[in-house]
Amino acid sequence: MKGIILAAGKGTRLYPITRPVCKPLLPVYDKPMLYYPLNVLMTAGIRDILVIVPPDDMEPFVNLLGDGSALGIHISYVEQKVQRGIADAFLIGADFIGDDSVCLALGDNIFYGPAFRGKLREAMANTEGATIFGYYVHDPRPFGVVEFDKAGKAISIEEKPAHPRSNYIVPGLYFYDNKVVELAKKVQPSQRGELEITSVNNAYLAAGMLRVVPLGDEYSWFDAGNADSLYEAAGAIRAAQRSGRMIGCLEETALRNGWIDADRLLELAGEMNSTRYGQYLTAIAGDLD
Ligand code: G1P
Repeated sequence: MKGIILAAGKGTRLYPITRPVCKPLLPVYDKPMLYYPLNVLMTAGIRDILVIVPPDDMEPFVNLLGDGSALGIHISYVEQKVQRGIADAFLIGADFIGDDSVCLALGDNIFYGPAFRGKLREAMANTEGATIFGYYVHDPRPFGVVEFDKAGKAISIEEKPAHPRSNYIVPGLYFYDNKVVELAKKVQPSQRGELEITSVNNAYLAAGMLRVVPLGDEYSWFDAGNADSLYEAAGAIRAAQRSGRMIGCLEETALRNGWIDADRLLELAGEMNSTRYGQYLTAIAGDLD
């Protein structure tokens, strides 16, 4: 399975913060926002990852992550020249996807929770159709909203409804079989002029090929796309990390997946040993000895 991170948003909802720095590179507490979706893909076991970046802004991404080889993964980059919506990721990434299946993660969506690895592996085990998640929020109106019947089966998805049919939103992490490329080509722009991911999900729903997995209270999800949610996400990460566990730690995931060894981890930690992040890496490398 291939992985795509759509990190091409200008972040206009975060102006003036995002005038000089694009949104996915902003800090969420102690690490760049992009680390969180990248860590989710790596946790799922995905090693071949395309990062879709804003026009004329590739360099800072490359400076941050390079080709991924330090983490035992392969990262490539491509620009989204015109903001055409989330489903455009499958048109931009069509050659990269080839005849593989694909997981798309939005660059400003942050997930964590116990046993998330298990949930991700479960989603990947579904080799045909699509698997998306449902997450309960107080105000679902700014999101894709999924409606379930009494048996818990998804029956509709609406993008930013004025009158939501449920409180379950579809967060920005989507698993698709290879048909997604052809389906995305057929999507027509919505009223806001975007190729909506909700249209892709509705195509799978209509074909009876969409699975919606609810994420319970034990999971946390944030769309860090505006100042309040960015602040809230940073606070939640800080609080969650007080337990001693690091969230979104790429080097740890690479180590646990067996993609790098403890020596490599220590090398990476060495560059950061004045921070808690670096000290955490040193500590986990020692745990394995
Ligand atoms: C997008 C999707 C929406 C989804 C949300 C998750 O919204 O269109 O379905 O629920 O991401 O963050 P947008 O960021 O385009 O407002």
